[in-house]
Amino acid sequence: MKAIVVTDQAAGLAGMTLTERPEPTAAINDVVVQIHASGFVPTEMDWPSTWTDRAGHDKAPSIPGHEVAGVVSALGYGTTGLSIGQRVFGLADWHRDGTLAEYVAVEARNLAPLPGDVDFTVAASLPISGLTAWQGLFQHGRLQAGQAVLAHGAAGAVGTMVTQLAREAGAYVIGTGRAADREKALDFGADEFVDLENDALDAVGRVDLVFDVIGGEIQKRSAALIKPGGTLVSIVGPVEAHPADGLAVDFVVEADRAELVEIVQRVRDGRLRTNIDTIAPLDEAVSALNPTVRRKGKTIISIRP
Ligand SMILES: NC(=O)c1ccc[n+]([C@@H]2O[C@H](COP(=O)([O-])OP(=O)(O)OC[C@H]3O[C@@H](n4cnc5c(N)ncnc54)[C@H](OP(=O)(O)O)[C@@H]3O)[C@@H](O)[C@H]2O)c1
Repeated sequence: MKAIVVTDQAAGLAGMTLTERPEPTAAINDVVVQIHASGFVPTEMDWPSTWTDRAGHDKAPSIPGHEVAGVVSALGYGTTGLSIGQRVFGLADWHRDGTLAEYVAVEARNLAPLPGDVDFTVAASLPISGLTAWQGLFQHGRLQAGQAVLAHGAAGAVGTMVTQLAREAGAYVIGTGRAADREKALDFGADEFVDLENDALDAVGRVDLVFDVIGGEIQKRSAALIKPGGTLVSIVGPVEAHPADGLAVDFVVEADRAELVEIVQRVRDGRLRTNIDTIAPLDEAVSALNPTVRRKGKTIISIRP
């Protein structure tokens, strides 16, 4: 099959090539998905799981990409719940070969059925950003209606999902980002916007939940804004600053079929909009994913247009 591979961590995305790889086989409880569209997070090149298997052994050449939308083409031994020919979408295992390829093997439980009226490209943009927002807000952040959320990077892939889901849940959302992000963040539903390079972050007042996608100094300044009993949720590694009288959580998104079903239902009925910047075919994936081109929103690779 055709696949994008990376072989050299130091070269990062610049070391990506389109090549031939063996098709994956389905292990126990797996399905093989014939991929129609694949989503990708540029920071994957820095994740240890891109370079090692679960035992810590080097797994290069590695196929990146972990968001998948496609059709089940094979079932592993003992697999139930999905059938051959079924449309699915979801999150591929971090430590196995990923989704910038024509086929991927995934544990069936990490996928959800994809309704026929949702495009594969739309579905491939949802698993990481949608599930991360959902889990950060509702599981780790315990968000309640009427609370105030500081949503950093509110024009980005995760931030636009955080903003929309928090608003739907009845929260007041203060989005942040760069000056050029203001219009987009407000368009996705932020109640107000803070330009982190020019506005005073402290002026937003106290919030119940900080959803941090940036880290560093911005996280430290944000922790000080959290009300007693509030929560700092970080998706960029171990928390660097704890709120004085609240919780701090960092987490990595997990696959969850029931949450994927909730997310795709919101896309179908218009409560959630996707944030896709570019859709490119597999043959052009290497240049489409080039890190020197700044994207606002996700790059989706259309494997079977
Ligand atoms: N833990 C997890 O499970 C998990 C899941 C998903 C993502 N992540 C991580 O979360 C981060 C965000 O992911 P994403 O896909 O949402 O990325 P993204 O689409 O690039 O969004 C990030 C947004 O934040 C903005 N931003 C970053 N630094 C900023 C700064 N110093 N001042 C103002 N704005 C700033 C970016 O603007 P510019 O583009 O202009 O910099 C962009 O609009 C990445 O590091 C990713 O690896 C973690």
